[in-house]
Amino acid sequence: MSSSNAIGVFDSGLGGLSAVKEFLHVLPNEKIIYFGDTGRVPYGNRSRDTIIKYAFQDTNFLLENNVKMVVAACGTVSSVAGKALESKLSVPYTGVVNPTAFTAAHKTSNGKIGVIGTAATIGSHSYKKRLKKLNSEFEVFEKACPLFVPLVENGFICRDDQIVRLVIRRYLSELKDRGIDTLILGCTHYPLLREAISDYMGDKVALVDSGYETAVYAAKILKEQNLLNDENSVKKPEFFVSDTPDDFENVAGLFLGRNMEHTVTQIDIEQY
Ligand code: DGL
Repeated sequence: MSSSNAIGVFDSGLGGLSAVKEFLHVLPNEKIIYFGDTGRVPYGNRSRDTIIKYAFQDTNFLLENNVKMVVAACGTVSSVAGKALESKLSVPYTGVVNPTAFTAAHKTSNGKIGVIGTAATIGSHSYKKRLKKLNSEFEVFEKACPLFVPLVENGFICRDDQIVRLVIRRYLSELKDRGIDTLILGCTHYPLLREAISDYMGDKVALVDSGYETAVYAAKILKEQNLLNDENSVKKPEFFVSDTPDDFENVAGLFLGRNMEHTVTQIDIEQY
């Protein structure tokens, strides 16, 4: 199917594109194989066992394509299944929680950090635990925003859209009132709403994008382990989904700023 030596990136749907966008920018000579589990999105309100099962199937698909690294560009998988994945994989792995928490810890000035994510991510307190390990004096305010993922998956990402603005206000008003100066977008879908979130939170609140931070961290691991490709030619990413590619192509095209028509392949993830 695909060539080897690629970086494998997966998410429940479109969210991991926030990592892919950065990979395409910083590592254009690396091949990216992306899997979005659009047939089973969202993961964020599912049980732990289901999330772990899906995470292993997604990873198996990538490994079958001989990827040299697995990136769980998904806050939910990283929070719930990250340890299980890491212990079983024989290639380097990263999720999104550690690199993102690390950046937020360095960005905050007043020590008040907001974290938004799916119900599973917030329920696991993964970011909060990590932040508290980095500095026990941080005040961390968490909020699950379950409507954000369906908004993004259905293409509601425009900062001027009234529905988008309303949902953002509904979820984020309490974090705004807490006086946070840093907000972790702890689900990789949320950077697709970044402009609208930033409009609401204002420019005094730094937004930390989990997809972006993870791609930067993954690039660092590959460099340290001498796994970067030496060929000097730009590689075309390959995209796979588990449901019809049409919606994915439209929204992904908007977000990545490229025409994605007829570039996405549907696979049967249940066989992995
Ligand atoms: N992008 C995901 C995350 O970072 C997925 C959310 C979902 O499927 O609920 O958590």
